[in-house]
Amino acid sequence: MSSPGWPGAPGRAARGACYPDESQSPTRPEAPLSNSVHPSISSSGLTHPESDGELRQAREHDLFAKAHAFTRAEELVALGLNPYFRAIEAQHGGAVTVEGREMVITGSNDYLGLTQDPRLKEAARAALDDFGTSCTGSRFLTGTLTLHEVLELRLAEFFRKPAALTFSAGFLGALSIISALVGRHDIVYFDRENHASLFDAARLSFGTLRKYAHGDMDALERKLAEDSRKPGGRLIVTDGVFSMSGHVAKLPEIVEIARRHDARVMVDDAHASGVLGAGGRGTAEHFGLEHEVDLIFGTFSKSLASVGGFVAGDAKVVNWIKYKARPFMFTAALPAMQMAAALKALEIIDAEPWHRERLWENVRRLRDGMSSLGFDNLGSTTPIVPVLVGPDETTVRFWRALWDEGVFSTPALPPSVPAGQAIVRTSVNANHTPEQLDRVLTVFEAVGRQLGVIV
Ligand SMILES: Cc1ncc(COP(=O)(O)O)c(C=O)c1O
Repeated sequence: MSSPGWPGAPGRAARGACYPDESQSPTRPEAPLSNSVHPSISSSGLTHPESDGELRQAREHDLFAKAHAFTRAEELVALGLNPYFRAIEAQHGGAVTVEGREMVITGSNDYLGLTQDPRLKEAARAALDDFGTSCTGSRFLTGTLTLHEVLELRLAEFFRKPAALTFSAGFLGALSIISALVGRHDIVYFDRENHASLFDAARLSFGTLRKYAHGDMDALERKLAEDSRKPGGRLIVTDGVFSMSGHVAKLPEIVEIARRHDARVMVDDAHASGVLGAGGRGTAEHFGLEHEVDLIFGTFSKSLASVGGFVAGDAKVVNWIKYKARPFMFTAALPAMQMAAALKALEIIDAEPWHRERLWENVRRLRDGMSSLGFDNLGSTTPIVPVLVGPDETTVRFWRALWDEGVFSTPALPPSVPAGQAIVRTSVNANHTPEQLDRVLTVFEAVGRQLGVIV
């Protein structure tokens, strides 16, 4: 079967890096799917057989034409091959109910399993009673609650930084920090595997974006050296744990390079907060570099079992972002329930290291099992355990076979990953039982052999 052309964009938008960056062009129309591939499926709900040149020309000016011509997702749904937007009916431990049946979930980012913790639910309920359902205003004006101040103090304390600021989403945090700090003559250096929110943030800023190959410290140093005579400030931005490969950033080298070239360092610890470091304080703590990293950026939407973003760093810099960042100022403030849940999660991360210990036991079980079966896990050392499949189509078929066997995973296709290197992304959480993980391994082995991914 010819490749029907997988709609990779949802993967990119939802999580992960972009390869290549240029493919993000929002104005590029989708190429229509040829009817010869799937004769039963219309390539466009818009096209009439009698369309003449005049009609086509008129449609070129219709802003909605690309949307009307976009049929890939529907076609994949019809084929049972659309992995996106699968609705979960209930969640319990390491399992979920979908379409009335129980499945082991391997793609979530609930690393410590705290989304179902009764103490977080209770804290959120109490905040709901005290503050209501929404702030209905920007932090700048009527949206600041005492709870924002409490949470920001607690975050600063937890991450050992002078100050912290919260955002209504991590994505908005990335946009806020980078657009406020990186001005016209400034240069920002990005690992190509950085999260999509960081790339969009760089595009929103007026500075220059310089990308280096994933983990290539020589390339980073070279680019900084090439720019040495240019004016402006320098900011190196890296994911702490890369969301697709599960790699940990080479922070000791990054910090050294930054020092040599007078650059600031920002780490996106979305996948590292609560996970890395003896105290769960993330990548900087893991390497003993908490003082060397200038800005720790993160989200509540993973280990902290809530929604929202944050930055911790120098008080004057945090204050600058607070007064200058449009995606912070012109949006409604983070609601109380989300903050109360995140606050409780921070307390638990501090007081109960056993959630993290159990997570790492599970990581070892799944990762060691996968590699002894012969899967290529891209050298991941974290709870993100990618399984390299390669071709897009095989990857989606892999996902579907897992799905049929009750394993909920997430395929990541280009541009979330480099072309030809599509993966099934699995991730482990503290609530997975050994039986659930063994089941995942059994199913992966059967599907991997069936599709020739392992022999
Ligand atoms: C590495 C990384 N950074 C930032 C974000 C954005 O966080 P949020 O979900 O809070 O918008 C995500 C979430 O997908 C992420 O994976």
